[in-house]
Amino acid sequence: MIRHFLSLSSFSHRDLQALVDRAHFFSVNSQQPDQIHHLLTRKIFANVFYEPSTRTRCSFEIAAKRLGADVVNFVPENSSVKKGETVYDTLKTLESLGVDGIVFRHSDDHVLDQLRDRIQLPLLNAGAGKNEHPSQGLLDLLTLHQEFGRLAGLKIAVCGDIKHSRVAGSLMVAAEMFGMEIYLCGPSGLLPEPKGPTVRTADFDEVLPIVDAVMMLRIQLERHQGLELDAGAYHVHFGLTEARVGRMRPDAITLHPGPFNRGVEIADAVVEHPKSRIFKQMSNGVFARMAILEWAMRGRQ
Ligand code: CP
Repeated sequence: MIRHFLSLSSFSHRDLQALVDRAHFFSVNSQQPDQIHHLLTRKIFANVFYEPSTRTRCSFEIAAKRLGADVVNFVPENSSVKKGETVYDTLKTLESLGVDGIVFRHSDDHVLDQLRDRIQLPLLNAGAGKNEHPSQGLLDLLTLHQEFGRLAGLKIAVCGDIKHSRVAGSLMVAAEMFGMEIYLCGPSGLLPEPKGPTVRTADFDEVLPIVDAVMMLRIQLERHQGLELDAGAYHVHFGLTEARVGRMRPDAITLHPGPFNRGVEIADAVVEHPKSRIFKQMSNGVFARMAILEWAMRGRQ
């Protein structure tokens, strides 16, 4: 069976918890290369990113190398995409060249559904359209689990452009599975209809004092047409300011998947505030992706 990693919804609660635990194992043992460097020797992964990325692409590459695998970085701008080659033919080419798995990012919401039965290699979703970003979801779960020792019952405010956020998409899938309560905050035009019993819309300032974590999201200008953002006004109404952080519970934390726009959805001083786990999330990205790569290669010669 080919182990595609496309959505957190394809995992059972138990299997997703096992992936969180494995990612935690890698975080604890990252300084023990003897224990982990042999796990994926001779495997080759292709990073295929049709959209820009810093964190996801680099952390998948580092994760593969920490496990002893090699990585090919496919860059559409310097490839035969420029001569009209399709996504399918590109992936089929990489399959023919002998890669063992494809880490894939694209702006299209449905492209992975169209490819999953046609590519005989694990496809690892590194961000697809507005739907899901499951490896980000896993690193967010790992960060929350490390912080609180549990996921069930956590209350999380998500604030920003949630309608266009695949990060929020994966978090909401996980929330339902683990029984986390999600409060969707932000301009009403950027909020989706809440789905499921654990997700509701809320006033950002009202929920700040009751939540365990606040996840800030940037306005995804690349997914809007003709939106003129008044960054100053947005910061006043929905930005995570020092004053707002001061109203959070003493043990509550702040999160952001990055990239962040300092002074828009998050104040400069808050990015590296003691409550911030933003850089912890980035570090955890490597460990989460190590767990994903290992999982995808299970059973593959
Ligand atoms: N969080 C995230 O997906 O960041 P990148 O776009 O830099 O990969």
